[in-house]
This record gives sequence, C-alpha cells and structure tokens, in this order.
Amino acid sequence: MKNILITGCHGQLGSEFKNLEKEFPNYKFFFRDLDLDITQKKKVEDFIKKNKINVILNTAAYTNVNNAEIEKNNADLVNVEAVKNLVNLSEKHNCKLIHYSTDYVYDGTSKTPINEKCLVNPINYYGESKRKGEIFIENSPSESIVIRTSWLYSRYGHNFVNTIIEKATKEKEINVVNDQFGCPTYAKDLAWDSLKILESNIKLDSRGKVYNYSNLGSTNWSDFAKKIIEQLNIKCEINEVSTAYFKSTVRRPAYSITNKALISSTFNLNIPKWEDSLKTYLTNFKL
Ligand SMILES: NC(=O)c1ccc[n+]([C@@H]2O[C@H](COP(=O)([O-])OP(=O)(O)OC[C@H]3O[C@@H](n4cnc5c(N)ncnc54)[C@H](OP(=O)(O)O)[C@@H]3O)[C@@H](O)[C@H]2O)c1
Repeated sequence: MKNILITGCHGQLGSEFKNLEKEFPNYKFFFRDLDLDITQKKKVEDFIKKNKINVILNTAAYTNVNNAEIEKNNADLVNVEAVKNLVNLSEKHNCKLIHYSTDYVYDGTSKTPINEKCLVNPINYYGESKRKGEIFIENSPSESIVIRTSWLYSRYGHNFVNTIIEKATKEKEINVVNDQFGCPTYAKDLAWDSLKILESNIKLDSRGKVYNYSNLGSTNWSDFAKKIIEQLNIKCEINEVSTAYFKSTVRRPAYSITNKALISSTFNLNIPKWEDSLKTYLTNFKL
C-alpha cells in the first residue's frame, strides 16, 4: 500500500489530486494544506511517522510571483527551507518525493525547446527561490525528483485561463502580451501523470533528478487567450501588445517552451496537446 501525502492540497495542483483519489484505489491519500505547515519540520515528521507515509507529493509553494520580490523571506521559507525539510525527512523515513518546480528557473533566452540539461538562471525572485529548493533534491540520495511545470491552470484559484474568461465576459477588448512563449499545463493532466509515474514503479530518478512537464505544443499568451475565448464563443477583441506595454517591474522569461521527451520516454506517458486539454477543461466550464 502506498500512503501518499499531498501537501498544499487547496492549491490548483493539490485540488486536482483530490479529484483523482477514487481512480487510484490502491493508494491511501492524505491531503493537507496549511493544517500541515511544511515549514514545521517536527510536525511533518510526526505526521509521516503516525500515518506511515511512504510517498510525498509536494505541491505546496509560495507562488505569488510579484510579492516574492518584496517578501523574499516568506518565499524562501516555503520554497527553500521547507523543501530542505521534506528532503531530509524523505531520506530519514525512506519516502519517495516528487517536488514541483517551475519554468521560471530558466531565463528565457533560449531559442529552442529547453531540456533539463539547459542552464538555469532565474530572472525573478520567485524563480530564484524555486531554484534554491530544487538543489536539495538534486543533491539528495533518496528517490526524489523535481518536476518543472509551466503556465498551470485549473478551475481552482487564480490562473491565466480563468482571468481571461472573467475579463473577456466583462470587457469588449483586452490587451494580452504576444512576445512571451511557453507551454500551458492543465493541472489535472499533471496530477494524473504524476500518479501514473508512481504506478509505473519505475525508479523516479532513474534518468535524472529533474524533468520538464507541460502539455505538448506551445503558444504565446495572446494566442492562448484567443483560443480560450474562441472555444467559449465569447465576443471580445484580444489586442496583442508587447511585454513592455504593462511596465511590470518583475521580469518574466520571454521563452519557456520546454522539451518533454525525457519524462514521456522514461515513464511512458502520453501527454495531451495543450489545445486538447484546454478543450477538455472548457467543455465543462460554466460561464
Ligand atoms: N501556477 C503556475 O502557473 C505554476 C507554474 C509553474 C510551476 N508551478 C509550481 O507548481 C506547484 C503547484 O502550483 P499551484 O499553482 O497549484 O500553487 P497554489 O495554487 O499557489 O497552491 C499552493 C498551496 O500551498 C499552500 N501553502 C503555502 N504555504 C504552505 C505551507 N507552508 N505549508 C503547507 N501549504 C502551504 C497554499 O496555501 P495559501 O494559498 O493559503 O498560501 C496553497 O494552497 C508549485 O510548486 C508551483 O511553484 C506553478
């Protein structure tokens, strides 16, 4: 029996794991959010011992990209210190660990799809804090991996898809940047494939400690927005603008299209294309 602890279960990714619970009856899931604060090492250790946890899926994170610039200590507590705790505990209690990270560890200067061996060079503090957390896993002898994902959406919480729908239903036109390229990820697909990875019983780090994951294919934010409103038949003009238009003080990578060959071939995954997953998501969307 696998006893799986899902941290951050009220977040986008964590919530999708909850929805899949019934489809994986061989696993016993323990869903926790701030009621099991991952910065509290002793409490997490007691929980692991009491519930005989042997797998940890760490979806908990400090994810507010703008605030991370001014709340660096808070970002570090969750994205660095707590990850160190989980790595230590997974080594001590022989737990498998999947930790989620981000395309924001890359600097966006690549011109071709980024693989896991490409240079990491975060350009904002959120990315830097997530990178610092990754290093503990890279250096750990335990069966632990990092899955770097990007442009995550789900029906839970704040994300690009839900924001575009909200704005486009209220406004006649909206401005969306056309010069940042990347790969959307439907959180449900990532949750599903994470459980498939566990189910495969293939050693998690058999081909490295870090794997990229997103839906297949790529786009830019304005084309992504156009697909969303087209699918829902919302009448709204998408004006393409450059990143400079929004005068954001926080830098974001211009190019974060990732190569998913390593994760798909290692674990025999059949990752859906981003357009197909968006369609699946929006088919059940109630305006
Ligand atoms: N969202 C994206 O576009 C994106 C892109 C690339 C990678 N990722 C990564 O993917 C993973 C999942 O992202 P997500 O969008 O699902 O995140 P999310 O929606 O922000 O969920 C994270 C959850 O963790 C909780 N949490 C925060 N600090 C905690 C702590 N100390 N102990 C326990 N729980 C805590 C949060 O609670 P509060 O909300 O109350 O703080 C929230 O419920 C993260 O590692 C993130 O860095 C996300």
